[in-house]
Amino acid sequence: MAVRPDLADGADALTTLWPTFMLHDPIADLFYARQDDHATHIFSAVDGDEVVGRAYSVPVAIDGHPARGTLPADGWDGVVRWAWLDHLAGRPPTHVSALEIMVAPSHRGTGLALRLLEAMKDAAREVGVTELVAPVRPSRKHEEPETPMTVYAARLRPEDGMPTDPWLRLHVRAGGRIHSVCPTSMTITGTLAQWRTWTGLALERSGPAVVPGALTPLHVDAAQDHAVYVEPNVWVVHPL
Ligand SMILES: CC(C)(COP(=O)(O)OP(=O)(O)OC[C@H]1O[C@@H](n2cnc3c(N)ncnc32)[C@H](O)[C@@H]1OP(=O)(O)O)[C@@H](O)C(=O)NCCC(=O)NCCS
Repeated sequence: MAVRPDLADGADALTTLWPTFMLHDPIADLFYARQDDHATHIFSAVDGDEVVGRAYSVPVAIDGHPARGTLPADGWDGVVRWAWLDHLAGRPPTHVSALEIMVAPSHRGTGLALRLLEAMKDAAREVGVTELVAPVRPSRKHEEPETPMTVYAARLRPEDGMPTDPWLRLHVRAGGRIHSVCPTSMTITGTLAQWRTWTGLALERSGPAVVPGALTPLHVDAAQDHAVYVEPNVWVVHPL
C-alpha cells in the first residue's frame, strides 16, 4: 500500500466477501480505519487493473513489555489493540502479526495466498523482527461450529501428518508452527435486532445458535436482548 495507495479502494471492495457479522468487531476500527499508519505491511494482489487479493499485517511489541511476553489469548483483538497502543506510544515492534489474507473466489487455488503470506514475511524482515505471528482463522472450521477449536486444530492428515484444515496446512507448509489456540480472538456483540440484520436469522430463543460462516455457535440471550459471538483462532508462528 505504501507503493500503490491507488489500490486501496479495490482492496476495500473485497470486504464484502466476509460474512456481514464479521464486519462488526469494534476493535477492527483500530486497524482498518488507520491503514496509512502501517502502509508497508499492507498488500494487494492485482490481475490487470483488478484487485484480486489483499493482505494486512501490523508491527507489534510482544517481547520485553511487562504486561505481554506471550501471544495473547484474545488473539486478533488483542494484537490489534496492542499494536494501536504501540503506535500511540512510539514503541518499537518485536514482531509483526498477520491480520488477514483474502483472495477473490475467482483466484483461489492459484498460489496467491502463499505469495501474499510471503510478502508479509518480507516486510517483517525489513523491520528487523525475527517472527511473523498469525491468529489464523481456519478456512473450514465453519463447517463444524460445535467442534472445540483445540480438537479441530490438532487434526492431522494420516498420509502426511499435515493439518487437515487447508488454511492451517498452507501456513505449516510455508514454515509456520502451530503455537496455541486463542479462544477469544474476536468478540462481536450486538442487540438481537442487529444480529438479525447481520445474519438473516430469526434468533428468537435463548441459547447457542449456528450462524453461517461462524466458527463457533452464537450465544443468544433473548431476555436481555443481546447476542455474543466469541471466535477462536489459532496462533501460528513463522520464524523469519
Ligand atoms: C484462505 C484463503 C486465503 C486461501 O486461499 P487459496 O487460494 O484457497 O489458497 P490455496 O489455493 O493455496 O489453497 C490452500 C490449500 O487449501 C486447499 N483448498 C482451497 N480451497 C479449498 C476448499 N474450498 N475446500 C478444501 N480445500 C481447499 C487447497 O487445495 C490447498 O491445500 P493443499 O495444497 O494442501 O491441497 C482463501 O480461501 C480465502 O480468501 N478465504 C476467505 C478469507 C479467509 O478465510 N482468509 C483466511 C483467514 S484471515
